[in-house]
Amino acid sequence: MARTHEAGQLHAPGSSSIAIVPGWLNAPADVNELLPQLWARTVERGADGALRVGGVSVADLAAEHGTPLFVLDEVDFRARATAFRDAFADAFAELCGGADVYYAAKSFIATGVARWLAEDGLGLDAASAGELELGLRGGVPGARIVVHGNNKSRGEIEKALRAGVGRVVVDNLQEIDTVADVARSLGVVAPVMLRVTVGVEAHTHSYIATAHEDQKFGLSLAGGAAEAAVVRVLARPELRLTGLHSHIGSQIFDMGGFEVSARRLLGLQRTVEREHGATLPEMDLGGGFGVAYTSEHDPLPPQEIAGRLAEIVARECLAQGIAVPRISVEPGRAIAAPSTFTLYEVGTTKDVQLDAGVRRRYVSVDGGMSDNVRTALYDADYSATLASRASTAPGVLSRVVGKHCESGDVVVKDEFLPADAGAGDLLAVPGTGAYCRSMASNYNQLPRPAVVSVREGASTVLVRRETPEDLLALDAG
Ligand code: LLP
Repeated sequence: MARTHEAGQLHAPGSSSIAIVPGWLNAPADVNELLPQLWARTVERGADGALRVGGVSVADLAAEHGTPLFVLDEVDFRARATAFRDAFADAFAELCGGADVYYAAKSFIATGVARWLAEDGLGLDAASAGELELGLRGGVPGARIVVHGNNKSRGEIEKALRAGVGRVVVDNLQEIDTVADVARSLGVVAPVMLRVTVGVEAHTHSYIATAHEDQKFGLSLAGGAAEAAVVRVLARPELRLTGLHSHIGSQIFDMGGFEVSARRLLGLQRTVEREHGATLPEMDLGGGFGVAYTSEHDPLPPQEIAGRLAEIVARECLAQGIAVPRISVEPGRAIAAPSTFTLYEVGTTKDVQLDAGVRRRYVSVDGGMSDNVRTALYDADYSATLASRASTAPGVLSRVVGKHCESGDVVVKDEFLPADAGAGDLLAVPGTGAYCRSMASNYNQLPRPAVVSVREGASTVLVRRETPEDLLALDAG
């Protein structure tokens, strides 16, 4: 039954029965506790109670680099990247000689990050000329780069082919001809994969689910668009079809979607091999592996993800009677998100009395939806902790909000923060390494924050803070 009230739904009688505290959030016994699954591995509370990461205290980071600040633990990022690399290499060693991991640059990329990927032997998934350029600048070899996009420009395709990328993932029928034409003009043969829409409903937010039929990405299996695309690619001598690709969505915990996706891709692979006489040596299962933003999430470790995918691929190839192609995956979030927290300074606070005798404290910080739009855009959950000191005060139900002129400017919807947290304290929000700085905006003319990496007692700027002058320089006057 809809409840209505002249001042809006929230004022309707009985609306307090809409849970105020989410089921997964419990008042903590100790407000200073750090749940290990939420934090990068070198984060700890120092003897003074303040957070330290990579041997550097947050007070020093804030003093040197200002706030808001994205603080990336280099050791953690590289450990997660190499864990994916090794888990997939091991799990697929016997099946197809190993597997390749392409880090998804869209989650977060800077030249410094690309340098780590290059050194650590990972590949890069680039979804634009800009992401490609940063990968190349960091020294990722072209052959280890995959280029994506549902509307790549001719310029982007040309840049990719000149860089000698390992694969261009073709997203639609027109693009087949465009890539072939550009390849001919450059006198090269372009290695291409086909992005197949496998019709899987991934269990995630609809904005980040990408393999159901009614959306913009890829060539549908249903109705034969994907098979027609295969025929079209095979007819162009400027193209070399290396395999099929599917990405079913993001922040996924359930391997069931990957299972259906692999089965359907391998079914098409079989058709291509039997009916069109082409061998496809590679297959890409995309990214999308979930991470913990709060205590409600329980992600699988890379070894388990790789092991389960290997089982699925082995079983399906056997069932279809085809050889196992070389598998690759494209994790972004699972590597980047947990490596980073955002450091904010607290400004104003206010308490609101809710129905049922519950109070909510609004804690305003010096950033907001311009540095983390995920809460507003996807209703995402995050956690937060008082970072500049420990507290003996009890936890109070709080909502961390930004400084933008918009009531939806929420960073952390629900968290128990110490009752004595207030102006001048530093607050840290973990899990912000993916899709936060990369989706940042200048809303309300706020300069975007810096990203610093920390390691062994030193911090390094990966992306410098924007200045008001940077923004003014864009204004034509
Ligand atoms: N490969 C392809 C083709 C993709 O489209 C994506 C993400 C990935 C790999 C990496 O997915 P990941 O492992 O990071 O989940 N802005 C949204 C996420 C959009 C993801 C777009 N594609 C968010 O903040 O949740």
